[in-house]
Amino acid sequence: MQTAPGEKRAAPRFDGVKFLSSWLKNPKNVGAVAPSGPVLSRTMAAIVDPALEGPIVELGPGTGPVTAALLARGIDPSRLTLVEYDEAFCATLRKKYPQVNVVQGDAFALDRTLEGHASAPFAAIVSSLPLLNFLPEQRKQLVEISMRMLRPRAPFIQFTYGANSPLPVMSHLYETSASKRIWWNLPPARVWTYRAR
Ligand SMILES: C[S@@+](CC[C@H](N)C(=O)[O-])C[C@H]1O[C@@H](n2cnc3c(N)ncnc32)[C@H](O)[C@@H]1O
Repeated sequence: MQTAPGEKRAAPRFDGVKFLSSWLKNPKNVGAVAPSGPVLSRTMAAIVDPALEGPIVELGPGTGPVTAALLARGIDPSRLTLVEYDEAFCATLRKKYPQVNVVQGDAFALDRTLEGHASAPFAAIVSSLPLLNFLPEQRKQLVEISMRMLRPRAPFIQFTYGANSPLPVMSHLYETSASKRIWWNLPPARVWTYRAR
């Protein structure tokens, strides 16, 4: 696999072990037993338009495979702000991507968490949060806050292992679309895009 600009290459197996041990400590928050695969990560990054002005925010980056795909897509590391709850993952991310802004905090309180770190309007929000482990009301609140912080037409990008949209479909606020199922991932996943109106 290619190393993205600004990325210090880490052995993938090491990330897998780190990921599994975080999952054992906190299965609800981590929400997966293995890091996102390269095809899923690239599919998410491909939806981001590097030409759209503004910061790009990643939620729940974990060990950083989607960050690597965003950097490989040509996103300048100074445009990226990562919001991650887990302290050990934050330490890993800071080591791997020293030029990227890593904020340890709660993505569900995005506006407060990002105060002093990144200013809206954002060009994209890319989320690997395990949304299905959170209450529908929390997910609705997350997408409502996010839509207020995105540029018009900018995407909120989310993967899910589930069959349906992990966020409520609210067509007065955003357009919703989904990728084909990505079988080359453990487990297979789908990428949903919610585009602000
Ligand atoms: C499915 S994992 C991310 C997988 C990541 N793509 C990878 O391969 O390493 C979900 C991530 O969301 C983080 N997370 C869960 N709840 C969070 C919250 N409220 N705020 C920020 N991050 C959160 C977890 O710590 C975990 O890193």
